[in-house]
Amino acid sequence: MAAAKEHSNWSSKWTFIMAAVGSAVGLGNIWRFPYEAGQGGGGAFVLMYLGFVFLIGTPVLVAELSLGRRGQLSPIGSMLKIAKEEGRSSAWQLVGWSGVLGSFIVLSFYSVIGGWTLSYIIQSIIGAFDGITAEAAGALFGTMLASPVTMILWHAGFISLTMFIVAKGVEGGLEKAVTILMPALFILLIALVIYAAVAGDFAQAVSFLFKPDFSKVTFSVALEALGQSFFSLSLGLGSMMTYGSYLKKDTSVGKSAVIIASADTAVALLAGLAIFPLVFAYNLDLSSGPGLIFVTLPIAFGQMHFGVIFGALFFALLVIAAITSSISLLEPSVSYLQEKTGYTRKKAALSIGFGTFMLGILTVFSFNLLADFTFAGMTLFDLFDFLTNNLMMPLAGMFMALFMGWFILRKNLLEELAMTEKWFKLWYFLVRFVCPLAIGAVFVFLLYEKFVA
Ligand code: TRP
Repeated sequence: MAAAKEHSNWSSKWTFIMAAVGSAVGLGNIWRFPYEAGQGGGGAFVLMYLGFVFLIGTPVLVAELSLGRRGQLSPIGSMLKIAKEEGRSSAWQLVGWSGVLGSFIVLSFYSVIGGWTLSYIIQSIIGAFDGITAEAAGALFGTMLASPVTMILWHAGFISLTMFIVAKGVEGGLEKAVTILMPALFILLIALVIYAAVAGDFAQAVSFLFKPDFSKVTFSVALEALGQSFFSLSLGLGSMMTYGSYLKKDTSVGKSAVIIASADTAVALLAGLAIFPLVFAYNLDLSSGPGLIFVTLPIAFGQMHFGVIFGALFFALLVIAAITSSISLLEPSVSYLQEKTGYTRKKAALSIGFGTFMLGILTVFSFNLLADFTFAGMTLFDLFDFLTNNLMMPLAGMFMALFMGWFILRKNLLEELAMTEKWFKLWYFLVRFVCPLAIGAVFVFLLYEKFVA
């Protein structure tokens, strides 16, 4: 009896950790982190990112997971329910609304990038990377960007995979597959780092990534680093709140959050160490933006032995990592729609999936037909990315920290979190003071920098 109980506890803990790591590790680590670090000037960006992950992201992750575990509803339903239980204003549900809306927007462009990744599996298999030069790699990527039809088809493919899995329910085959495939991606990344260390300019990459040069830091770079830490940890949009309901009462939220944040950060740093040695060796543009990995990695795969196999395998594993993230982006709005309308899971997943597909078409067009259509210098893709990463996620994170730190009885927190006194005190201090003040300060100084200085 006792043994059976132990086992089921262990397996549910493991399932939860895998699902949450699966949500965190995705395009954010391998596609977005390197190009953000490149544009942000390297070391100082990376250092701020690491600080934000551990001092702000991890405590907010604890907050978001435990709100979900307590609420057991969609992000909107959970926030409303907990606010009521604590005798607080129903306006706290706005945090949930921002999450549902934000995850919908993020998924719409995430799927487009997921589509690029899918198409690169095929490019690798047909030998498009064979002996490719830096110029030709740029041209290959440019050709894809120039074709709205191609991009829409791959985007449709990616969102369909996501809808299909969410419609069937997350439990089952996917989780088993993930426990094998995520470690496989990790190992392949390490192999790529070793390749890059031999074939590329490793010393320059390390100094670029880890030697901070604060002369280039502005508050808008700090906000990018803050947004990236939230994006990478899947924070602020209700994904982790939804996943919090997987958590059993006897699982430590604190330990789980540290494991998730460490695994996620390790993958991002490995991706940086795989990409930048090649960027320097081939004199590629550090600030080339969203195309960075798509113009860098093909050169490497095109030169190594068995590059066709490694290339296809890498992009396939990246698609899988992206899908274990995109399902967590579809989940908040699906759970809300189900809660509101009583739709079946399948019907809700198909409706929301179709909506994100339509919205994603704007992101597709922002790279071609509507490339000149800009607001304050931002294309539609830039705008969606800015709204979610730089505004909705950090602000929702700030409000979650405030809510937990100041609006829930300390006694209830202690009971919910079940941490040791020492860790609870540290976490409580971080959510009460450090998170809100640091996030608030980034915004205030940014406004000052933009409008006054
Ligand atoms: N963290 C994922 C990645 O790095 C993306 C993601 C999933 C996400 N769920 C999220 C980002 C919720 C922000 C909020 O690819």
